[in-house]
Amino acid sequence: MKDVKQTLLDRVSIRRYEREPIPREDMDFIFEAIRNTPTSYNGQQFSVIDIDDQNLKEELYGITNQKQLKTCNRLLMFLADFNKISKLAAAKGLVMPPIESRMDGVFLGIIDAALAMMSAVVAAESLGLGCNCVGYLRTADPTKIARLLHLPKGVFVVCGLAIGVPREHPDHKPKESKSLLVFKNRYRDDEAMLDELVEYDEIIKHYNQTRAGGTSDNDWVAHILDYYRHACDYRLLEYLADQGFVLEQ
Ligand SMILES: Cc1cc2nc3c(=O)[nH]c(=O)nc-3n(C[C@H](O)[C@H](O)[C@H](O)COP(=O)(O)O)c2cc1C
Repeated sequence: MKDVKQTLLDRVSIRRYEREPIPREDMDFIFEAIRNTPTSYNGQQFSVIDIDDQNLKEELYGITNQKQLKTCNRLLMFLADFNKISKLAAAKGLVMPPIESRMDGVFLGIIDAALAMMSAVVAAESLGLGCNCVGYLRTADPTKIARLLHLPKGVFVVCGLAIGVPREHPDHKPKESKSLLVFKNRYRDDEAMLDELVEYDEIIKHYNQTRAGGTSDNDWVAHILDYYRHACDYRLLEYLADQGFVLEQ
């Protein structure tokens, strides 16, 4: 097992996997790490669907066009989940506050599920497994995926996580420097920030031109904005409302 430092600093997204099962003890460790995730108020407003059914993975690939879904050994779907607590409240005759219609309810479901996903990533990586978070499982066709997974009201997909034995060892993507990410005592506001951003943009462009595997001329900012332009068309408020999250404030 890798130590924490090596686990966190070696991590890269892995999208190609060997057709090799993940030992049961390894999955058990990943699930224990998920269980011990810190959550808002200890509310644990998340659930995970562990998908090993190849037909279902292929169907999800058909919706998202994300090839890694076909070859990963496991696909964990991280869900924000208010269904379970609502059930228990009803059984005990307790009135459920309308937290699902509040932005903070949505935030806390997303945060709990996202932290649980990161627990799974760290646990899997420490075992030498490879992971890839798959956001298209949230955005590609949320209504269809909700139906496929039988999601009840009070539950929505936050993200998927593909896990498998790595079949590739991609280069590390250069990340923003510490000075662009970690500020001291207050938000950073100086002119050098823009210079550093421009420099980072150039570093990514150079990385894209020279990296192992497919190269491109993409810079960072224009490329990310293209993704965001596309993401502006997602109809997630409607999906959330269908799942019982009719946002009021
Ligand atoms: C919430 C989230 C959603 C993501 N969705 C996808 C996805 O749908 N498809 C994909 O190939 N990678 C996806 N990624 C992986 C990112 O592209 C990747 O983390 C990023 O490019 C940085 O590369 P690295 O993980 O190798 O450091 C996602 C990552 C996160 C955190």
